[in-house]
Amino acid sequence: MTAVERKKTSSIIRRANANDIGVISEIEKTCFPELTAYPKRQLAYLILKANSTALVETENCTVRGFIIVTYRKGSLIGNVETIDVDPRFQNLSVGISLLAAAEEDMKQRGMKFAQLEVSERNEPAISLYQKAGYTIKQRLVGFYRFEHNGTRDAIRMVKPLFKAP
Ligand SMILES: CC(C)(COP(=O)(O)OP(=O)(O)OC[C@H]1O[C@@H](n2cnc3c(N)ncnc32)[C@H](O)[C@@H]1OP(=O)(O)O)[C@@H](O)C(=O)NCCC(=O)NCCS
Repeated sequence: MTAVERKKTSSIIRRANANDIGVISEIEKTCFPELTAYPKRQLAYLILKANSTALVETENCTVRGFIIVTYRKGSLIGNVETIDVDPRFQNLSVGISLLAAAEEDMKQRGMKFAQLEVSERNEPAISLYQKAGYTIKQRLVGFYRFEHNGTRDAIRMVKPLFKAP
């Protein structure tokens, strides 16, 4: 096994817990400007109290990224609330691995679709979602309260979590 392969195997995806909230909030702040970042209290709620899947990716105990999916009662759609990778560790497949792990969790909960909203100018994220099999369902004019990358408009993307017969 080469050094690179050994490094790869130390990447772990696990459920987020209360001890992760500080670092998750810091990552959120590095990924989004103050007005658009989820506040720490809301992240804590989503992770600890909401009906959600909250996962972190770690390497050698360093949290490099996280994803939060929420569920609504009676719905078969898992909503990807946010996925963030610490900028120091972007473009290392952390994001796509987190998304795949969250989709497995959604399937285990019986969800039939994964859905999300993303700023229509967030090219890295849109590209990630398209690579993972999401397609654009709808354009949402004025979706965000504050501008993301100079626009309040978003797109809703969706992915079926079942194989077509
Ligand atoms: C979007 C984000 C989560 C991607 O995470 P990541 O770990 O860097 O992405 P990955 O390394 O897993 O890349 C997977 C795919 O995403 C796309 N992608 C990732 N970064 C990209 C970039 N800067 N530009 C274009 N495409 C990009 C590519 O299709 C890539 O596949 P490839 O490597 O074969 O080209 C990360 O850029 C991030 O945290 N951004 C800030 C927070 C954010 O905008 N979150 C989304 C909220 S809706």
